[in-house]
Amino acid sequence: MPGLAAAEHALIAEVLAGLTGPRKTLPPKLFYDEAGCTLFGAITRTPEYYLTRTERALLPRVAAALGKRIPPQAMLVEYGASDESKAELLFSPLRIATYVPVDIATSALAKLAGRMRIRHQAITVHPVAANFLAPFRLPTTTASTPRLGFFPGSTIGNLGHGEAVEFLRRARLALGLGAPLLIGVDLEKPLNILIPAYDDAEGVTAAFNLNVLVRLNREADADFDPALFRHRAAWNTEFRRIEMHLESRVPQSVRVAGRRIKFAAGETIHTENSHKYSEVRFASLAARAGWRVAESWTDPNRLFSVQLLI
Ligand code: TRP
Repeated sequence: MPGLAAAEHALIAEVLAGLTGPRKTLPPKLFYDEAGCTLFGAITRTPEYYLTRTERALLPRVAAALGKRIPPQAMLVEYGASDESKAELLFSPLRIATYVPVDIATSALAKLAGRMRIRHQAITVHPVAANFLAPFRLPTTTASTPRLGFFPGSTIGNLGHGEAVEFLRRARLALGLGAPLLIGVDLEKPLNILIPAYDDAEGVTAAFNLNVLVRLNREADADFDPALFRHRAAWNTEFRRIEMHLESRVPQSVRVAGRRIKFAAGETIHTENSHKYSEVRFASLAARAGWRVAESWTDPNRLFSVQLLI
């Protein structure tokens, strides 16, 4: 299939560009192959990763409050929906008629759709296999179908500020006039809580990060030895973000798609960022994209927030 070959080509070009610059980087979308999706699921169940369980605990309260704003029979559009476990908490309280999960992980989407047919027969599912950072088409509905955007998991934090504003702006246009966006935003907090969430004791996050190298071995004709790299999670004070890196334990040279890539001992590949926000800083980011924070819900420890943008 020429389309697939072109996609593979583009991925390899992106990987090589990232590994040959002065500071090595890899695109975060590489995380989410099948093994990566499974490992990410395991991260969300580690005791250190407070994000998922805190957000889930907030959602019933959010749904109850939203019932007053969102008319029944709405279309719920979830950005980065690797599974329906969060959206599910909104289905019955909001009487959602149509669910549109948008994700780059095609196999995760197929499984999701399969489960939906069994567990939520009354809801129409329109999976969209797309990178939600690029424009994509929403299923056509009548003009009167209410819409609600949903972007949980603090995935917004994985975007840089410019990218985040661009995403929010585009989502506003795509969802259409009057459609709100419900978004999960992780809050700034002491590092003794934050760092372990990205470097758990069991090493699940380390395995998730290192899986990117395993994937390159398979898909980009690379010969990384994952044992010669270590996972690093560090707070960047200037940019208010956790940075994920893969640090070379030794000086080494690795083959990637016919090129030799040299690593000094201690040199890193920057694989991901997770920006943390105060409520004030997030409100100003949203404002740059034309949104206003109408309501915000947080847990008693103020670890995580779910915010309604209108
Ligand atoms: N959206 C998640 C977050 O920022 C993604 C994530 C969690 C992640 N743990 C990670 C990404 C470890 C890379 C490495 O919390």
